[in-house]
Amino acid sequence: MQQPIMISPSILAADFLNLGRDIDAVSNADYIHVDVMDGHFVPNLSYGTTIVEAAKRATRIPLDVHMMVSNPDETVDWYVDAGADLISVHVEAARDLPAIVTHLHERGVKAGVVINPATPVEVLEDVIELVDLVLVMSVNPGFGGQGFIEGTYDKVRALSAICSRREVGPIIEVDGGVSLSNARALAAAGAQMLVAGSAVFKSPDPASIVREMRELASLGLECKKA
Ligand code: DX5
Ligand code: ZN
Repeated sequence: MQQPIMISPSILAADFLNLGRDIDAVSNADYIHVDVMDGHFVPNLSYGTTIVEAAKRATRIPLDVHMMVSNPDETVDWYVDAGADLISVHVEAARDLPAIVTHLHERGVKAGVVINPATPVEVLEDVIELVDLVLVMSVNPGFGGQGFIEGTYDKVRALSAICSRREVGPIIEVDGGVSLSNARALAAAGAQMLVAGSAVFKSPDPASIVREMRELASLGLECKKA
């Protein structure tokens, strides 16, 4: 059953010499977030299908693949084949987002759309009914360990309002600078899934950060309902 609040630790902040160990250390996570960067859509290069395949072998936790690439239309299949369970593509990069979403669904994979901090939520009006998830970037994509952009709360609230008005319920995910200090407020604004890299993997006890983050966010969710 889907949890009301989901935590997706980003392995960008993991120790790649000990990736299996680090993934094991977050066995209480809901997803494992895999950041694919092409050095073109974002000014950094990370990893591709080999790491998705390796993560798939290492865990039964579903993989949440965040594609920061210029040509998602041509390359989503690589990540489906590698074992992704959910794939999110940037609205700024996709040529034909509805076609990508339809294709992912046909291949049995959940489909998400990502918006950069500078992209307004209104661009989602046309696709919001198609996607399983909307990922709101709370930093400019490309690097872990950046400071959280405070304007994200308003953006998540605006997105929640669009979803209510349209009577659709994609998962709202937030990525970048997420920590124990903002998890509760993010959930209160409407976030249901939190990505955290540094906050989780730079901690000596990653599982306890996942648990605490979920607990704090659940308190925020209660505030939202009240
Ligand atoms: C940034 C990535 C994030 C990153 C988050 O471009 O999309 O997923 O790993 O890292 P933290 O939590 O350290 O900001
Ligand atoms: Zn990411």
